[in-house]
Amino acid sequence: MALKLFSVMIFLVLNVSFSKAALDVHYYDRTCPNAEKIILEAVRNASMHDPKVSARILRMFFHDCFIRGCDASILLDSTPQNQAEKDGPPNISVRAFYVIDDAKAKLEQACPRTVSCADIITIAARDVVTMSGGPFWNVLKGRKDGRISRASETITLPAPTFNVSQLIQSFGKRGLGVKDLVALSGGHTLGFSHCSSFQARLRNFSSVHDIDPRMNIEFAQTLRQKCPKPNKDRNAGQFLDSTASTFDNNYFKQLLAGKGVFGSDQALFNDYRTKWIVESFARDQSSFFREFAASMVKLGNFGVIENGEVRLNCGVVN
Ligand code: HEM
Repeated sequence: MALKLFSVMIFLVLNVSFSKAALDVHYYDRTCPNAEKIILEAVRNASMHDPKVSARILRMFFHDCFIRGCDASILLDSTPQNQAEKDGPPNISVRAFYVIDDAKAKLEQACPRTVSCADIITIAARDVVTMSGGPFWNVLKGRKDGRISRASETITLPAPTFNVSQLIQSFGKRGLGVKDLVALSGGHTLGFSHCSSFQARLRNFSSVHDIDPRMNIEFAQTLRQKCPKPNKDRNAGQFLDSTASTFDNNYFKQLLAGKGVFGSDQALFNDYRTKWIVESFARDQSSFFREFAASMVKLGNFGVIENGEVRLNCGVVN
């Protein structure tokens, strides 16, 4: 009897500490049946005018979820009293917030006060992947928007200089494993980086090596030309893979050839804990697509809050 009571108590404790807002694929079926269609249309329109939108939205989702969970805290504007995440150093280069605002404005017309900004980012991130040739998956919905956003917290985002232990730790803190780390890093199949994020690899890398020895030497020369020193062009940089507007497994093939742009990318091929996963994704695009979709769902569940709100305007709390 005592044992039974003890097991029930353990069950209750576990259940309480692991409970989180229940997300559901059908969350808006009755309250806003066209929600996903409206979001897709906004994303598609924006991408037609600006092909950079896809990469920007995918990165926005990652940065939102890593700080305070997927609660759209990245969309809140700074106020005189508070510098928000948007203005934190790693987020200065995150753009395309207007696409989410545009979708939100249309959703407020179709079904007022119903679809959270956090769900809009999550659905838009799936859409840009699918539109770019990547996998489709069903998005769980029902997230609420947070009321807190602090620029100082963005310092906990992983840096492009991280080694694999640091990356594993950073992802682990968000409930993501080693396979998730490698699959999600495949997000770098899309988009662009400014020189500032990788130029330390190109000159005076260490006391022994001028160039990061893990980097393909011809690739290093190309990057040096793109990022001369001193570099007067603040917009200069490099596409993260040679097919940067197509979602494919080319990013992993490039790591095998020493052509990862960031130290944190190339490190994945140079560490026994992650190398075999990089190799398997480079060999088999469909396994990358499967794992990427699964890891995006997992990332989208991180830190989802129950006591938030559905913001009326994604840039300000209600
Ligand atoms: C593993 C740790 C990661 C690090 C250290 C990292 C770092 C960076 C850096 C430094 C940039 C370039 C910023 C710039 O110079 O403009 C970048 C771009 C980008 N990142 Fe990551 N990232 C990581 C993971 C991810 C994940 C998990 C995703 C999505 C699933 C992602 C998606 C992107 C995309 C799409 C871009 C291109 C953005 C654009 O073209 O505007 N990254 N990342």
